[in-house]
Amino acid sequence: MTNQQPTYSPFDPEVIADPYPVYRDLRHNAPVYWSPDANSWVLSRYEDVSAALADPAAYSSASGIFPTPPGVDMTELFLPMLIMTDPPRHTQLRHLVSKAFTPRRIVGLEPQIQTLVDDLLDQAPSAETWDFVSKFAGPLPAIVIADMLGVPREDRDRFRTWSTTLIQSNPTRGEFGAGLDAAAALYDYFKTFLEERRAHPQDDLMTALVHAEVDGQHLSEDELLGFCLLLLVAGHETTTNLLSNSAVVLAQHPESRRQLADNPELIPAAVEELLRYDSPVQGLARTLTRPADLHGQRMNAGDTVLLLFGSANRDDRAFPDPDCFNIHRAPERQVAFGRGIHFCLGAALARLEARTALEALLARRRDWDVDLDSAVRLRSGPIRGYASLLVH
Ligand code: HEM
Repeated sequence: MTNQQPTYSPFDPEVIADPYPVYRDLRHNAPVYWSPDANSWVLSRYEDVSAALADPAAYSSASGIFPTPPGVDMTELFLPMLIMTDPPRHTQLRHLVSKAFTPRRIVGLEPQIQTLVDDLLDQAPSAETWDFVSKFAGPLPAIVIADMLGVPREDRDRFRTWSTTLIQSNPTRGEFGAGLDAAAALYDYFKTFLEERRAHPQDDLMTALVHAEVDGQHLSEDELLGFCLLLLVAGHETTTNLLSNSAVVLAQHPESRRQLADNPELIPAAVEELLRYDSPVQGLARTLTRPADLHGQRMNAGDTVLLLFGSANRDDRAFPDPDCFNIHRAPERQVAFGRGIHFCLGAALARLEARTALEALLARRRDWDVDLDSAVRLRSGPIRGYASLLVH
C-alpha cells in the first residue's frame, strides 16, 4: 500500500496481467478515482459498487456499459440492448426475454452440455500440450448458446470469430472498426434467421423470442437483433474466461484441486469462489444522471463511472482474507454476475456449464499444468481471460 495517488488504467498490460495490487491501492487510497485513460471515475470498494448497482436511477446504463472516449455514444453504435437500457423499458424488455429464457429451458440443457463436454474432452489430446481456450473453454459456451438459439452447427466457427472480434475491440481507445464490422455481420446473419423462424417456428430460443409477448407487446426487430447479439457476446466470452481462469487458478492451487476431484459435490461452491477470486467481468460502466458526492469527491451528472466488480470481490470489508483462494468460503455476496435489475440473465446457464466442465475435467485429469509464459491474455480491459492458454 502507498500513500500516493494510485495510477490506474484498465488497458495497461501490467494491470491486465495482474490488476489486484492496484485495486487494493485504489480501495485504500483513492476509492473514487478519476482514470484519464478510461475517461471515467472508478469505484473499487464493495459497498460503493453494490450501492451504485442498486441505484439505476442515478447510475444509468442507457449510455452504454463500457467507458468510451468523450463524444462517443455507444448506443449509436449498436442496436438497442437490454443491458444498455434503464427502467421502464428495461423492465418490459427483461420481462419479455425472461419468458423465453426460462429456468426450465436451462435445466433441460444439462444432458446436452454433458455430452458436449465429453465430446470436446475426447478430442483434446490428453498426453500432449493443448490449447485449453481453442479446444475447450471457447467452443463449449459458443456451441451451447448457438444450439440454444437454434443456429446450425456449420456456422459455429464464424460465430466465434465475429464475437471475439467484437469483444476485443477497444472502445476506450476508439478502436471500433473491426468490432462494428463483426456486429454488422452478426446482425445480417440473425436477420435472415429471424425471418426463417417467424415463418417456420422451431423448438428453440430464437422462435421463443420472436413469439414472446407481454400485454400484447412483442420485441421489435431491432430489439430482437440486439438481444441475439448480446446473448452471443455475453453468453460465451464470459463463460470461456471463467473456464480458462479456473484452469489456471486450480493449477496454482493443487490441494484445492485434489479436494474437488475427490469430492465433486464441492464443485458448485468452488465455482462461486472462482467467480469471486478471478472475475471474468472485471468492471462495467454507468453514467450519472445527477451529481453524486462520495468519500468527499464530487462526480457530476453525465460523468462515466466504472464499477470494478473484480476489486469489490477482493475487498476485505466484504470477504475476510480476500486474496486467499478458498473453495470452502461460499462467497454468496460475490458480484461477478452484477446485482440488481441487470443481474446476469445467464447466471444459471454459466454455473451449469462451469460445474459440468469442471466435473468432467477433474474426473479425467487431476494434475494438469498451465504454461503461463506462453499464455496470451485478452487485451480487453473489462473482460479478464485468455486468448490462448496451453495446458499439459
Ligand atoms: C461466467 C459467465 C458470466 C459472467 C461473469 C457474466 C457477467 C454478467 C454481468 C456482470 C452482468 C451485469 C451487467 C450490468 O450490470 O451492466 C451480466 C448481464 C447479462 N448477462 Fe451475463 N455473465 C456470464 C454469462 C452469461 C451467459 C451464459 C449469458 C446468456 C446466455 C449471459 C447473458 C447476460 C445478459 C442478457 C445480461 C443483461 C441482463 C440485463 O441487462 O438485464 N451472461 N452478465
